[in-house]
Amino acid sequence: MTKDTYILGIESSCDDTSAAVLCNDVLLSNVTASQAVHEAYGGVVPELASRAHQQNVVPVVDQALKQAGIEKEQLSAIAFTRGPGLMGSLLVGVNFAKGMARSLGIPLIDVNHLQGHVMAHFIRSAECKAESVELATAIPSTDGTTAANSKLNTLNSSTVPPFPFLCLLVSGGNSQIVKVKAYNDMEVLGQTIDDAAGEAIDKCSKVMGMGYPGGPIIDRLARQGNPKAFQFAEPQIPGYDYSFSGLKTSFLYNLRKWIEDDPQFIEHHKEDLAASLEWTIVDILMKKLRKAVKDTGIKHVAVAGGVSANNGLRNAFHDHARRYGWTIYIPKFSYTTDNAAMIGVVGYYKYLDGQFCSIDAPAFSKVTFS
Ligand code: KG4
Repeated sequence: MTKDTYILGIESSCDDTSAAVLCNDVLLSNVTASQAVHEAYGGVVPELASRAHQQNVVPVVDQALKQAGIEKEQLSAIAFTRGPGLMGSLLVGVNFAKGMARSLGIPLIDVNHLQGHVMAHFIRSAECKAESVELATAIPSTDGTTAANSKLNTLNSSTVPPFPFLCLLVSGGNSQIVKVKAYNDMEVLGQTIDDAAGEAIDKCSKVMGMGYPGGPIIDRLARQGNPKAFQFAEPQIPGYDYSFSGLKTSFLYNLRKWIEDDPQFIEHHKEDLAASLEWTIVDILMKKLRKAVKDTGIKHVAVAGGVSANNGLRNAFHDHARRYGWTIYIPKFSYTTDNAAMIGVVGYYKYLDGQFCSIDAPAFSKVTFS
């Protein structure tokens, strides 16, 4: 029987300090401290974020180890988010991971945050542990393909997407259509040329005087509104790329006009405004995704990132599965927004391939799939 691998994952790219422990690809714990300090500002304040990470990182890691029921000496490696993200925030997690790995004498694994979001589909819960151990023993010897990809190819494709699949990656910082050929081979087919979908939702929520982050608020309001009540500008961008800044401006200008006639306009129409905004964003996202599915012929389609928690988007995925015969993969709510479980699972597969990084690896604020 193969020896179990214990990975500690650490995520600190934006405003969530998160630590997770995995036994192989099975999640034992996933602890996240969110930062309420930003609410008053309607957006993340980088300096406040890095200070909060400093306060949170030790108790969060401690809690993750306790919940997993293991001692730090049992860890096989530490995986951390190297980028993209806010530099000050990244530095806290990166340096904590380096210090802890060095003190324990174990390898360090750098993880691309975007790859983490996509690979959230491969996190397995404790009920899968028995199967996981069996699979770990069944890894074929490598012949050109990597140990990690061999193992991934043996997983049950009714629960995890088979390679290649398409992934709509939508978060506060990114809106991309990614062709996932292997866990370590991802190609961006299209991406936003300005604002990300989550960023647009957050900004529109802010101009309506709602709280931060706007996504969950708009989502809740939208469920009681009419998605066809208002029309906003949709972008005309070629290929698979997205644009959301025109929609944001159209939302703002229309709102100003309507408020001139009725100062209580937002209060009177907040559900319809939220539903129409959500409908427009989902429509923009799905149009390009449909085009990518049609052109590539790949009908296994996943969604990932914070905005994948959105009910309108999830319903659109189910609708497309029925209408166009897609096989869809929607992550658990707890794996949609930033979390360390997704960093840990990439760490596990990189561990299988012996993909470690050196102690002087710097953080990257901007990085795409490599
Ligand atoms: O993935 P994430 O936690 O952080 C980044 O890496 O950016 O995504 C955060 C984004 C925010 O813009 C937030 O408003 C959005 O995800 N979000 C949602 C929902 N929950 C979070 N957007 C729409 N509906 C939701 N339910």
